[in-house]
Amino acid sequence: MSLATNLSGSFTLPKSLLTLKRIGYGAMQLAGPNVMGAPRDVDAAVAVLREAIALGINHIDTSDFYGPHITNQIIRQALHPYPENLVIVTKVGARRSADGSWLPALLRQDLAEAIHDNLRNLGLDAINIVNLRLMGDVHGPSEGSLAEPLTTLAELKKQGLIRHLGLSNVTPTQLAEAQTISEIVCVQNQYNVAHREDDAFIDDLAKQGIAYVPFFPLGGFTPLQSSVLESAAKSLDATPMQVALAWLLQRSPNILLIPGTSSVEHLRENIKAASLQLPQQTVADLNASAAKPLADRLT
Ligand SMILES: NC(=O)c1ccc[n+]([C@@H]2O[C@H](COP(=O)([O-])OP(=O)(O)OC[C@H]3O[C@@H](n4cnc5c(N)ncnc54)[C@H](OP(=O)(O)O)[C@@H]3O)[C@@H](O)[C@H]2O)c1
Repeated sequence: MSLATNLSGSFTLPKSLLTLKRIGYGAMQLAGPNVMGAPRDVDAAVAVLREAIALGINHIDTSDFYGPHITNQIIRQALHPYPENLVIVTKVGARRSADGSWLPALLRQDLAEAIHDNLRNLGLDAINIVNLRLMGDVHGPSEGSLAEPLTTLAELKKQGLIRHLGLSNVTPTQLAEAQTISEIVCVQNQYNVAHREDDAFIDDLAKQGIAYVPFFPLGGFTPLQSSVLESAAKSLDATPMQVALAWLLQRSPNILLIPGTSSVEHLRENIKAASLQLPQQTVADLNASAAKPLADRLT
């Protein structure tokens, strides 16, 4: 496989002028352990971000609660003044306690402060896309109105501090409620070859032209591992992570990837997934594995 340059094509967000390459970059891994504090090697983090841009990536996912503040400060150090076509997407709705816990921060003042923190730490006058991140429960999203926090963000959008709004960790019912308040350009939920709860949601979003941006595309804190991925990788002269990313790219054209890595080598490897075409049989094997009872399937 050669280093792909088209990053698997692009996707234009609804009612916007923003066109994102289908392979982007998730910046969460750039903070220290447990997404707290500074990384061991700040220069290495800067190098990953610069390499992402050099390879053609124009979509970086972040949050001011990574570090907190530190990941955004590293993005600014590495890339400011930003390339014109770069879309930085951030998320608000949580804050970190001193011990690293993730706490809800959805009150009006929390959200306004979070937007101003993102603007200051990233060095921006306006943020292209802000995702409202709901806490849900331990298993994922949980139902409940998002009207209050989303209305606050819609007001900040009217003030010109935000250009577009998205949602994270939400259900289809919450998306429908959100759409009565504001245009929603993207949804960011947990999804990967092993974690498929959003299958129907993705298809519905594709029909509406809304981007679906899976978080933990490689399994997140417990990276994907399975004999099915291993054997597919072997037969295709690829790595299991490339197979997992290629599966997502083939799953639906509205899926945009933001794999996270702190390594230039892994970044290059992940980008090559754009030129990996999975045969139908491999896709069928991966799908069959994901459909097995939890104990037997991909983890
Ligand atoms: N909306 C939300 O609630 C939410 C939640 C979590 C994450 N996110 C966003 O989603 C992005 C992606 O999620 P994530 O970073 O947590 O998880 P991920 O992309 O599924 O996996 C990241 C892990 O995979 C490893 N990795 C990456 N490329 C690899 C490769 N080629 N070979 C082997 N290992 C590899 C990384 O380690 P190395 O550093 O060693 O490469 C890291 O441990 C985040 O960066 C963040 O922007 C959003």
